[in-house]
Amino acid sequence: MYRICFRGIFTLVTVLLLGHVTAFADPDGKALFMSNCASCHNPLKDATGPALQNIDKSFPDKEWGYNWVHNSAKVIASGDKTANDIYNKFNKTAMTAFPQLSNAEIDAILNYVDNVKAPPPPDNGKQVPSGEQPAETNGWLYTIITLSLLVLVVILWRANQGLKRAANDVEGTPNEKEIPLYRSKFVIAFVSIILFIMAGYWLVNGAVNEGRQQNYQPLQPVFYSHKVHAGVNQINCLYCHAGAEKSRQAMIPSTNICMNCHKQINSYTGDPLKTAEGKEVNANEQIQNLYKYAGWDPVKKDYNRDAAGNILATPIQWVKIHNLPDHVYFNHSQHVKVGQVQCQRCHGPIQEMDEVYQFAPLSMGWCINCHRQTEVQFTNNKYYDIFEKYHDEIKEGKRTGVTEAEMGGTECQKCHY
Ligand code: HEC
Ligand code: HEC
Ligand code: HEC
Ligand code: HEC
Ligand code: HEC
Ligand code: HEC
Repeated sequence: MYRICFRGIFTLVTVLLLGHVTAFADPDGKALFMSNCASCHNPLKDATGPALQNIDKSFPDKEWGYNWVHNSAKVIASGDKTANDIYNKFNKTAMTAFPQLSNAEIDAILNYVDNVKAPPPPDNGKQVPSGEQPAETNGWLYTIITLSLLVLVVILWRANQGLKRAANDVEGTPNEKEIPLYRSKFVIAFVSIILFIMAGYWLVNGAVNEGRQQNYQPLQPVFYSHKVHAGVNQINCLYCHAGAEKSRQAMIPSTNICMNCHKQINSYTGDPLKTAEGKEVNANEQIQNLYKYAGWDPVKKDYNRDAAGNILATPIQWVKIHNLPDHVYFNHSQHVKVGQVQCQRCHGPIQEMDEVYQFAPLSMGWCINCHRQTEVQFTNNKYYDIFEKYHDEIKEGKRTGVTEAEMGGTECQKCHY
């Protein structure tokens, strides 16, 4: 009896586990889209490139789509009409080549964008990134299925026992004494193991996430909108975060940099602004707020000074959003200047945020995943001249590029000291 039951439960658990594992092993279309395509494509509307939802329906054939994503320049150069039409429509903007993506990964991306739903109207408070919800309902679905299957197992077991008893009665063999379910050694062992696994999972998960703060969006002392500046008015990120190209830190601009423009721009004429909670923002008041910090008198059109002629300014105490632990070494210039990685791949669509929030988890897995997926600027780069083996392989056509992981981007000491 126990044997049958064990076998049943064993098969059940195996099936459930396998279900989970295969679900994880499939390429994650959303993650791939966010890290590779989101800087230029929005699923629902045109951006630098076209809206990608249902774009696969417009491909001449599936292979065309793979070729395009692997290297669009090659498809355009081949004189393909579809390719040249779309290229001209988007003002001959070059799309990055992604030779490292497998066909399955491209399918996963296209599948993800096809299923993105339009977000609810923004005044429902903070926007939830679409695509987040299905994952959650999935989790619930699994729990419900698991629970109902467990109930089913118990019912079947009881029925089986009943039948065995009936059979014994007919055959005249004496019945074993019935043990109540809660005292059965097997049930106790099974429940303890499940509880042990769940507690372990919860503990480890909690410990690993300690100090992480994805989606953190603090209130800032001045309501300064990246959407207004970097989005609508197209001010270059490096104008304010010059350090990102030159140093480890991207740096937050001083009020002097704000005043380069705001000595003249003393009122706001753009679309009305709202906080993440949906409260109206008086943008003109916010500019006056900036003047107070900068020590600028908008009537006199000059700075307020003390007797010695020093400007009476106080620095704005911006709340820091991104915080890596001290044991991690991260360098902006290595990524922005040398690696040519776009800000948005790590910080998300900053140019659409009124208030900045932390887009990426900043976990070790996040750094390493990208190092595995992203190619370095390998050719025409003196720094990489010594890697003759890879250069030869590229020449022989054995490979098209070299990922950061192959350059040692997963070695502990590169990121930890
Ligand atoms: C650097 C910006 C950029 C990135 C990154 C980018 N694209 Fe594009 N994409 C474009 C532009 C611009 C076009 C329009 C054609 C052109 O000008 O080359 C385009 C066109 C396309 C098309 C062709 C659309 C059609 O009408 O047939 C597809 C498909 C596509 N992109 C998919 C992707 C996928 C998938 C990714 C991520 C793996 C990606 N793109 C990343 C800029 C980009
Ligand atoms: C006109 C100046 C200006 C421009 C242009 C600008 N920023 Fe900022 N940025 C700021 C200021 C001021 C803050 C601090 C206040 C805040 O977090 O909103 C900031 C904060 C940030 C942060 C969060 C820093 C933290 O505390 O962890 C990121 C990330 C960021 N900017 C990225 C960008 C990117 C990417 C662009 C270009 C698309 C950009 N910024 C353009 C001024 C600017
Ligand atoms: C390169 C020019 C430039 C710089 C530098 C600049 N701004 Fe602006 N700012 C603008 C423009 C343009 C507008 C929009 C004016 C309009 O639409 O009428 C604006 C609007 C604003 C507004 C009202 C809208 C909003 O975002 O709430 C505030 C507040 C503001 N800026 C604060 C700042 C602060 C703080 C800094 C420094 C970190 C800064 N600005 C740096 C050009 C600049
Ligand atoms: C490869 C990922 C990556 C790229 C690309 C990237 N950042 Fe960052 N950024 C980070 C991480 C990680 C932090 C947190 C650093 C820390 O806490 O030490 C950060 C922090 C910041 C901060 C907070 C202040 C600071 O220097 O710590 C600003 C501002 C910022 N980034 C702006 C930018 C801008 C602008 C660009 C593009 C020019 C950019 N970042 C490109 C990953 C990236
Ligand atoms: C969006 C992709 C991306 C993410 C996310 C990313 N990196 Fe990188 N990283 C790169 C690329 C590309 C390079 C190669 C730059 C070059 O050519 O030297 C690189 C290089 C490095 C290097 C230099 C390695 C060497 O060989 O010298 C370090 C250190 C590093 N990254 C640390 C980090 C840390 C820490 C994080 C997470 C906080 C991170 N990176 C997240 C893309 C990324
Ligand atoms: C590409 C950069 C990178 C590499 C390579 C890397 N780490 Fe990390 N590591 C990180 C980051 C970022 C964190 C911080 C994660 C957080 O705050 O949750 C971290 C955190 C940790 C932690 C603290 C536990 C935790 O999850 O927060 C340990 C332990 C650790 N790393 C060990 C290692 C070992 C061992 C290796 C080599 C096999 C390694 N790391 C390679 C970036 C890296």
